[in-house]
Amino acid sequence: MKRLFTGLQPSGDAIHIGNYFGALKPFLGLYEGYESLLCVVDYHALTTIRDPEVLRKNTIHVAKAYLAVGVDPSKAIIFRQSAVAAHTELAWIFECLVTVPFLMQSHAYKDKTAKGLEATAGLFNYPMLMASDILLYDTDIVPVGKDQEQHLEYARDVAGKFNRSYSKIFKEPETHIQKEVAVVPGIDGEKMSKSYKNTIPLFAPEDEVRDAIMKIMTDSDATIPQNVHAIHSLFKNSSELDSLYSENKGNYKFLKDALANDLLEYFSDARKSYNTLSDSKVETILKEGEERANSIAEAKMREVRKAIGVR
Ligand code: ADP
Ligand code: TRP
Repeated sequence: MKRLFTGLQPSGDAIHIGNYFGALKPFLGLYEGYESLLCVVDYHALTTIRDPEVLRKNTIHVAKAYLAVGVDPSKAIIFRQSAVAAHTELAWIFECLVTVPFLMQSHAYKDKTAKGLEATAGLFNYPMLMASDILLYDTDIVPVGKDQEQHLEYARDVAGKFNRSYSKIFKEPETHIQKEVAVVPGIDGEKMSKSYKNTIPLFAPEDEVRDAIMKIMTDSDATIPQNVHAIHSLFKNSSELDSLYSENKGNYKFLKDALANDLLEYFSDARKSYNTLSDSKVETILKEGEERANSIAEAKMREVRKAIGVR
């Protein structure tokens, strides 16, 4: 069976409906056809988070979100990156193979430091840790958003360099870019994103979800509120929406209530499941995943250590 690997950073705030349509839902459609690994990459998030409690909570939140939307833990290996020491070990080995100018080409590094993120060596080496995540498991495909394309090229490049420098140990993975995934707009009409504070959270209490929807910006010309309509179209087909919106032109409160009801209905099972999953249940699942991931990663590391001449 081919292997799929994807990583999610437990950074930032709560999972929102943009994350659902852009990442969770596509993963659900794909993962059962592969031996799938879903890794909560907490060491990557260490490039932005310095509060241990926040990092712990976000890690559980992200894993719980995947379980709540329907990922079956018996069909995917769900685990924390920090629980498999081989990820950081292999990253060091890769860092000794690549050059500073090569890493300097990273768009993500340039963007993040331009936005004011501290230029730590960890942030600079980020692509090598990500390459380790992927290559440790002989991954065939990596489903990610378009912004991760260069990171996948880094992974293929370092795999090739290792294979040429030592012996042919690593498989060069295929990127699976989810082009078809539309950008979900936020409550201000821009891309929904944690960093823009314009999200509709997926698992927040009902009143918070409704409040976020009530805050969707609307034009004042008493016609069809485009921002509300755009989000609503994720939940209802266009013929149903057309009549609803033309019959209720200008009645923003009514249309927002209708959107809130449809959204809550659509996510009803996921939200129930999120609220019934205890943190300790998630910990148990992460622990099981960690054991399975470790056994694959350790076998690979034995080959790697032998190839490079360390113990
Ligand atoms: P955010 O922009 O909120 O920080 P992340 O960068 O952590 O989100 O993205 C996590 C995943 O969710 C990625 O696969 C990304 O492509 C997807 N995603 C995030 N926001 C959106 C959106 N508005 N529309 C579609 N997909 C999104
Ligand atoms: N860099 C990815 C992101 O920001 C997260 C990530 C880390 C990842 N390791 C990975 C994604 C391995 C896919 C495979 O979204």
